[in-house]
Formats: sequence, C-alpha cells, structure tokens
Amino acid sequence: MTFVCPDKNCSLCPRLVEFRSANRLKFPTYFNAPVPPFGPLNAQVLIVGLAPGLNGANQTARPFTNDYAGDVLYPILKKFGFAQGEYKKRKDDGFELLNVRITNSVRCVPPENKPTGEEIRNCGKFLTDEIAAMPNLKLILTLGGIAHNAVLSVLGYKKSNFKFKHGAVHFLDKHNLLLLNSYHTSRYNINTGVLTFEMFEQIVAQFASLLAQK
Ligand code: URA
Repeated sequence: MTFVCPDKNCSLCPRLVEFRSANRLKFPTYFNAPVPPFGPLNAQVLIVGLAPGLNGANQTARPFTNDYAGDVLYPILKKFGFAQGEYKKRKDDGFELLNVRITNSVRCVPPENKPTGEEIRNCGKFLTDEIAAMPNLKLILTLGGIAHNAVLSVLGYKKSNFKFKHGAVHFLDKHNLLLLNSYHTSRYNINTGVLTFEMFEQIVAQFASLLAQK
C-alpha cells in the first residue's frame, strides 16, 4: 500500500506554490507547507475538511489548529469521547484524537480560502492514498460540499447519485463505507446560523451511533 504525503515544496499547483513563497517571506515563523493529517491511521473515522487556514493550520502544521473551525470541531469531538487532552491551538499541545483522523481536500493554504477545481483534483491523489492507508475505516465525515465532492471523485462515484445534504448518510457500496455530510464548522457558517454548535453535536452523535451499528 502506498502512502504518499506531499513534499514540503510540492509543486503540483503553481498558484499555491506562488502563495506559499509569498507567505514564507511574509510569515517566516509559519509552517507554510502542505499540512499533514492528524490522528491515528487505524481510526474508523476520517474527517475531511476544505484546506488549511492561513493563520490556522498553515501556521501550526496541524489541521483546524488555531482556526475558528477547530474551536468548534475539537471541543465537540472531545465531548463525545473522540479526543483527549487539552486543545491549546498548538501542534505540541498533547491533544490527541481517538478513533478519528482529520485531513483536508487540499493540503496547502489557498488564497482567500478558495481552492480551484484543478487544485482539488491535483491534491486528490493524497486523499486517495490516505483513504487506502486506513485499514479500519468505516465512515467518512465531509465538512462542506467541496470535501463531499472531493471524496466522491477520488473514490470514483457519480456526484449526481450522492447529493450533499447536511446530516445525510450515503453508502459507498464499492468501498463498504458510510459517507456522512455536515456543513463546514467555519466561522462564516456559525455566524450566519447555517450551522450551530448543537447541530454539529448532533452530527458527531450521529457518527458515534452509526459506528456502533456498523
Ligand atoms: N482548517 C483546516 O485545516 N481545514 C479546514 O477546512 C478549515 C480550517
């Protein structure tokens, strides 16, 4: 089984390389490289986000860390027993994920948080390898429509057969995997009321109960 992580100078996406070079000059203490996944490879759940935030994962080198979206995500995972330790917004805070791994559809920070279709496709090979490298994987939770489509596309499913809907559970028969949809835990979604903390707690409760049944 191959398991390829992008090189810290990965050159697949010219626009992201250019942004990275500028950020290395502007923010020399930041990580400024493709952000590796977080959590154990033998987890049953993979959470797929969008892309590192400029001052979040791109700074700290850990998905959703020092990012508003992580302030929503991590305490709720902990509340439901999927994490332990204290989340202190740093890679070395000792915070640990339990039975959950987290990755992004695109591993490099994109300008204005918006990866292009081509960048999502380029980074898809890492998502494919990630999924293949998780021997106990039962459920993928996608945060937002972009992550949902990225997963369908790398696994070879037709998007029209699996419409993104918050709370929807899809069955990926060729892979014997459940695919659960949630709105992204972004500040924008929380501020506009698209997603509330309670709604996201329900999503985590839902995957806990799906795991218990599967
Ligand atoms: N930080 C990440 O790592 N991913 C997201 O999708 C959002 C913030």
